[in-house]
Amino acid sequence: MENVELENVEGVGSATASKLRSAGITTVQVLAATPPREIAEKTGIGFNTVLNIATAARKSLSIDFITAEELWKRRQGMLKCSTNSKNLDKLLGGGIETQALTEFIGEFGTGKTQICLTLSVVAQLPPEKGGLNGNVVYMDTEGTFIPERVFEIANALGLDPHKTLGNVFLARTYNSNHQGFLIDHLPKFCPENNVKLVIVDSMIGHFRGEYLGRETLSERQQALNSQLHRLLRLTEAFNLPVVVTNQVQANPTQFFGDPNKPTGGNVMAHACTHRVYLRKGGKGTRIATIIDSPCLPENKTRFKITEKGIEDVQEGNEDTQEV
Ligand SMILES: Nc1ncnc2c1ncn2[C@@H]1O[C@H](COP(=O)(O)OP(=O)(O)OP(=O)(O)O)[C@@H](O)[C@H]1O
Ligand SMILES: [Mg+2]
Repeated sequence: MENVELENVEGVGSATASKLRSAGITTVQVLAATPPREIAEKTGIGFNTVLNIATAARKSLSIDFITAEELWKRRQGMLKCSTNSKNLDKLLGGGIETQALTEFIGEFGTGKTQICLTLSVVAQLPPEKGGLNGNVVYMDTEGTFIPERVFEIANALGLDPHKTLGNVFLARTYNSNHQGFLIDHLPKFCPENNVKLVIVDSMIGHFRGEYLGRETLSERQQALNSQLHRLLRLTEAFNLPVVVTNQVQANPTQFFGDPNKPTGGNVMAHACTHRVYLRKGGKGTRIATIIDSPCLPENKTRFKITEKGIEDVQEGNEDTQEV
């Protein structure tokens, strides 16, 4: 996507552009896609002015209507980041996709964090080795980012571990509000720091801990929805993937089959482009199943957690047979 300067949008002078930039609205794409009310609140610019410049931004990008052919072309620019497991990549249609939000859901110990840690190393590789040639933002809500583990994975994949750690920008988030604050800064931070992958592990942990009781549910869902949509806009504005993790909760009324369902309800379900459900398989393996995707078939595969992060279960291994 071409990058037009904010100052080239009709009605945006240097003072307005600087207010927009300091609120994280760094490109015309972000200006065009952010809800005007949110821009007005964050920048202090009058609502009517915001409406005018947002309209001008959309006009300058000619994005009010595009043909399906143009959308197809835009999607040709989509990149894929390998997970280091060929089978999981295949399940995902070639890897973790840019311009999309991919969600890994599962119980404790199913490998969500291990996938995120592996991706934070692989994303730094050149495209011919399955990477995105870029740096990584890792938002850690649970304090489970272990640098020694990234060191080990980088070593096992033949990368300089110190350099690899130096390319991961870590944000330990302390509450859902702090998480939102950091998400707001990504449109500025990502292009300035060659960030090509954003990870939020976990997306919903803080929300679950802070909003207790049914009466807070709609407020929680609204706040979660707003963060997810800001992440989605980021994927499109900078052609990068966002990976989020999510937990499960038991449904006490379900007596047959897997009683676990993803937390976050419809808000998570609608905002995430591809949803991957993880569970434990035999002999320490993990099973990944696509549960919702606009273009991937509902399918499953198996992987294992090793010193390389995650990788394929060996062919011929009896574990592969019961997938
Ligand atoms: N170096 C390693 N080699 C093999 N297995 C490992 C290694 N490091 C961690 N594991 C395994 O990874 C699993 C933990 O996975 P992970 O931390 O990704 O879970 P999670 O899905 O993020 O769980 P939670 O919901 O608690 O965050 C454990 O079973 C652990 O034994
Ligand atoms: Mg985890």
